[in-house]
Amino acid sequence: MFNLVKGTHDVILKDARKYSYIEVVLERAAELYGYKEFRTPIIETSELFLRSVGNSSDIVRKEMYTFDDKGGRSITLRPEITAGTIRSMVANKLFAMQDYPVKGYYCGPCFRYERPQQGRYRQFNQFGVECAGVIRSERDAEVISMGYNSLMMLGFKNLELKINTLGDEETRANYRAALKDYFAKYIDTMCDDCKERFKLNILRILDCKVENDRKIIDGAPKISDYLTEKAKADFDTILKNLDKLGIKYTIDPELVRGLDYYSGVVFEFHYTSSAGKNYGAIGAGGHYNNLVHEIGGPEIEGCGYAMGIERLASVMEDDNLFAEADIDQFLDVYIMPLGERAISESLSIANLIRMSGYTCDICLENKGMGQMFKKGERRDALYALIVGDNELDSHKFVLKNMLSQEQIEVNEDELIDKLDSLFAEDDDDDCCCGHDHHDGECCCEHEHHEEGCSCHEHQHDENCSCHEENDSECHCGWHNKE
Ligand code: HAM
Repeated sequence: MFNLVKGTHDVILKDARKYSYIEVVLERAAELYGYKEFRTPIIETSELFLRSVGNSSDIVRKEMYTFDDKGGRSITLRPEITAGTIRSMVANKLFAMQDYPVKGYYCGPCFRYERPQQGRYRQFNQFGVECAGVIRSERDAEVISMGYNSLMMLGFKNLELKINTLGDEETRANYRAALKDYFAKYIDTMCDDCKERFKLNILRILDCKVENDRKIIDGAPKISDYLTEKAKADFDTILKNLDKLGIKYTIDPELVRGLDYYSGVVFEFHYTSSAGKNYGAIGAGGHYNNLVHEIGGPEIEGCGYAMGIERLASVMEDDNLFAEADIDQFLDVYIMPLGERAISESLSIANLIRMSGYTCDICLENKGMGQMFKKGERRDALYALIVGDNELDSHKFVLKNMLSQEQIEVNEDELIDKLDSLFAEDDDDDCCCGHDHHDGECCCEHEHHEEGCSCHEHQHDENCSCHEENDSECHCGWHNKE
C-alpha cells in the first residue's frame, strides 16, 4: 500500500462526475461570454511566477513546488494558471493582431505547499478566465458578473461579492506611504508575517488574520481616502454596472488579495449556505495593469478570476446543490450470459447495443443468475439482457427491467427497436410535448428531434453513432439490421 502524498486526494467515481459537472457548467458559462479554451503546461519556468505572482506573495515565498530539472533549469509546478495563460497568449502572438480583448478560460491542477485543511489542498483544481486587452471598467464589471452568474448556474444562490479597488499607481504609492507611517508605530508588536510584509508589500498586512494584529489593522488608513479622481471614477463605473446587472456587493476596504499582479478592482465570491454556514471565498480575481507587459506582451491590461473546484464541490455537497444535477450514471443494459457459448456471443450483442448509443456491460465471469443480478444492481443497470443457449437457438432474448422486475421476450433483430421504444417511453416524460411520437408535426418544436429532443426516434439516421451515410459502410450494426 502506498499512501497519498500529503495534501493530495483521489477524485474517483461519483465525485469525479461531480467535478466534471462543475467544469462543464463553468465552461458553458465562459463560452456564453465568448471565451475560448486554453490548455497550458503544468510546469513552467520558475521565473514566470517570480515575475507575475511576485516575490512578496506567500505563494512565491513559501508555497511553490520548485525544482531543477536534469538540464539545470529551475522549474515550478504552477501554483495558479493566470501567469501561464497570459504567457501562452504572448508566446502564440495572440496580441499581434491587436484584436482585443483576448479571452481565455482554463481548468486544471495547481500546486501550493500549504498547510492542508478543510478545502485546502496541495494539489487542487482551478477553473478560471482571463480577459486581456484594453480593459474599460465596463469590461471589469462584465468579468465580475460572469463569475457571479457562473456560480448562479451551479446553484449558488446566497452569494456575497466582496469588492475593493487597489486604485492606480499613484493611489497605491500614496496609500503605501500612509500605511508605512501608520504601521511603523506598531510593527514591533505584530506577527512575523506582518513584519515581513511591512518590508516587502505593506498592503498585504491588511490580509493578516492574527487577532492582536486585526485590532491594529482596523485603525489603519483606508484606501478609499487615497484614490485618485480617475481610480475613483473607474471603481464607481464598475459598481454602477454591477448595480445595473442586479449584482449585490459589499465593499471591503481591506480586501487586497495575495498575488502581487493586481491593480484596480479586486474581488472575492463568498458563500453562505441556506443553513447559514459561511464557507468564505470560493473564487476570486481582479484587474491587472502590468502583468501582460511584465510577461513580454504589449502594454495592455487584463482582468480575470479563478475558482477552486474542490471548494465548489465540497460546498455543493454540503448544501445539497448537486440534487438538481444529472450526476447519476446508469448502465442501460447489463448482459447476463448463461454459459460459455453465450459469453462468446455476448461480445457482438454488446457491440450492437453500444454502437446504437446505449451503455452496456457484460458479465464475463460465468456466474449464476442470482449473482449476475447482484452485479447488475451494483452497476446501476436499468435492464438485464439474459442470453443462454435457448435464447441463441431461438434468436429471442429476455429483457428484464431491473427495477420493476417486468420481463419481455425480444427477437434478436428487434432488440435495438425495443430498446429505442423503452428508452423513448422513459424520456417522453421529460419531453415538453408529452407525446409518444415525435414526427414532423409534433408540437414540441424539435422538428427533427436532433439536438433538443429527448426521444431516440432518429437515432439511426442523422444521429447514428457510426456517422456513415451509406448503409453498406455502416459498422454500427443498425443499418445492416434494417
Ligand atoms: P487565488 O485566490 O489564489 O487566485 O485562488 C483562486 C481560488 O482557488 C480560491 O478562491 C480557491 O477557491 C482556490 N484555491 C486556492 N488555493 C487553494 C488550495 N490550496 N486548495 C484548494 N483550493 C484553492 C488565483 O489563483 C488567481 N490566479 C485568480 C485570478 C485569475 N486573478 C485574475 N485572474
